[in-house]
Amino acid sequence: MRDNMCTRRRGMDSECFNKLSKILPVSYVQQAENALRTRQKQIRILLEQKKLSESGWDDGVIELFLHEMAQLDSNNFQGNIGVGEREARIYSNLVAARHYRLGHGIGRSGDLVESQPKATGSSMLNVLANALVRDAIKLAGITSTEACFVAPIATGMALTLCMLYLRSKRPQARYVIWPRIDQKSCFKSILTAGFTPIIIENVLEGDELRTNIDEISCKIEELKSENVLCVLTTTSCFAPRAPDKLEEVAILCKTHSIPHVVNNAYGLQSTKCTHLIQQASRVGRVDAFVQSTDKNFMVPVGGAIIAGFDKNIIADISKMYPGRASASPSLDVFITLLSLGSAGYRKLLSERKNVFNYLRDELLKCCESNGEKLLHTPSNTISQAMTLTTLPQNDNDSVTKLGSMLYTRCVSGTRVVAPGLKKEISGTSFDHYGSHSKDSMPPYLTAAAAIGMTCSEVDIFIKKLNNVFSELKKN
Ligand SMILES: Cc1ncc(COP(=O)(O)O)c(C=O)c1O
Repeated sequence: MRDNMCTRRRGMDSECFNKLSKILPVSYVQQAENALRTRQKQIRILLEQKKLSESGWDDGVIELFLHEMAQLDSNNFQGNIGVGEREARIYSNLVAARHYRLGHGIGRSGDLVESQPKATGSSMLNVLANALVRDAIKLAGITSTEACFVAPIATGMALTLCMLYLRSKRPQARYVIWPRIDQKSCFKSILTAGFTPIIIENVLEGDELRTNIDEISCKIEELKSENVLCVLTTTSCFAPRAPDKLEEVAILCKTHSIPHVVNNAYGLQSTKCTHLIQQASRVGRVDAFVQSTDKNFMVPVGGAIIAGFDKNIIADISKMYPGRASASPSLDVFITLLSLGSAGYRKLLSERKNVFNYLRDELLKCCESNGEKLLHTPSNTISQAMTLTTLPQNDNDSVTKLGSMLYTRCVSGTRVVAPGLKKEISGTSFDHYGSHSKDSMPPYLTAAAAIGMTCSEVDIFIKKLNNVFSELKKN
């Protein structure tokens, strides 16, 4: 009886193959059955171990698994009558296909990681995606990560969610101490959560902009630790800013019992950033670290990963999310990680490192031939900055023109930073916005080597950059 139930649940089970052997030559059928069993074994191992496989799965087995998962959700049950207000009905076949017919989303009212009775397939997807992401985070270097979950909100909102969780623990606190990073969403994440940012200006050490630890310490004394919600540090950033001094901040936070949230937006791809987080948690306090799914795993924008070293904290943050959520970011990351396997992800990480070194070398040559300087920023292993001081200095016109000329020549992602830009964000005014510093710096251009970039893209970029330099100087 039990066996019957098992075989009935499978797609092409052994009974089906027995029957097929009566229609087609037995040897052909056996070969085909073996091929299917190999794929089913991969799925079984994933369910048993909940870990990245060493080599990636091919698209066929991923699709097989996704289709089977979808069959476990009530919207795909044969003869199911849904009489609730949300029954995962999907009008368009295109939309259904885009989501592999998984329509229930993830989580349950008030908890992003809870299972749904109507959606065993979607619930399984959620659990497995989070498990594989944790494995990938460990592989990237944050080896003591205890828990994480994919939230269907991008980095800025995910940081807000962490701060809302902390508010429930520290109702008196009003301030977030924030070493300055000129990225609007970081600043807005604090305002949206309802807190007052205390901006810590960076200090120049050599060519690098670094965290002012003394100033953080003074602010804690001045504001009193119970009034501080958390210190919000950043790892990945544009040069010449360096990743924050996470270990020193973590020690301060531990000493003063202040939570510490790390914005690791695109830092999973850099062993420098992951090592900093791992070390900071070892020597001091890190409550949560947040990173984007698109910037680290090459999927469309839409998700962020909230991770940490304490299961209870991460579980409590997942409970701050009101309602159910889109499964799309989890599904994209899940498919990508199955497809990569740990070998594939490791390869992407090591290729990125090589491309970064190549970018640095080529930018150095470009600087030498154009009379510019490549800023010495050894702590930043994702982004590089080169000065733009030899261009005609007419109100930054030629400097900003260089940025737009690159863009019209199909180079995206570079940032041209000209001194003097004053920017107001929700009532706070920043001097020299874009440069991460209140002090004026010479104009410069940044370029990053992010996961997936290739050396041939670097070559084309450098060629176009040299051409733009020549054109601007000629004029
Ligand atoms: C350091 C940093 N933090 C946060 C963000 C915001 O990310 P998201 O757009 O995913 O909210 C970015 C975006 O570029 C970033 O570079």
